[in-house]
Amino acid sequence: MELTKETLQEIDEVVPRYPDKRSAVLMVIHLIQDELGAISDETCEWIAEKLDIEPINVKELITFYPMLRETPWGKTHVRVCRTLPCALRGSYATCQKLEKKLGVKEGHVREDGEYSIEFMECLADCGEGPVVMVDEETYENIDEKEAGKLADLLLMGKLDDSAEFVSYEKGLLSETVTKAKKSSSKAKK
Ligand code: FES
Repeated sequence: MELTKETLQEIDEVVPRYPDKRSAVLMVIHLIQDELGAISDETCEWIAEKLDIEPINVKELITFYPMLRETPWGKTHVRVCRTLPCALRGSYATCQKLEKKLGVKEGHVREDGEYSIEFMECLADCGEGPVVMVDEETYENIDEKEAGKLADLLLMGKLDDSAEFVSYEKGLLSETVTKAKKSSSKAKK
């Protein structure tokens, strides 16, 4: 298992923050998963040795928490919320449309490794469902029809620059920039 210097350094910084080093296990798993995309058996052994625990203590966490992975997701990972508020607004149809367009079933990675879909519990934006996340970007009110358009843009590599689909995160950023510009022009007057 190869980790970057940065990740190794973060691990070395995080472990001493816990009175008992085994308590750092989830933090260490997250740091490694962020870099490698998943925690293999070899990685479980590495973590166990680092924290003086048994590999099974690491493995049981990986298999218990749904956000932890034994194999990586696709290059682009799409999450669709299936919890009640989004489900009532059509997230099941959203997910099916994305599956059809991207050519992969939820819970799986497409054969070429390009896309994966996860139909999962609440993505913490319940008032704007159906909610879809593409990697770390959140898209709101994605019903079946919108899902088709979003998938087409994604497949063409044009989703990031789309004026029609602006993620919650990008919207927030441009709002902040606009406010900052307004207040700086007021200050100049
Ligand atoms: S119910 Fe869908 S984001 Fe919470």
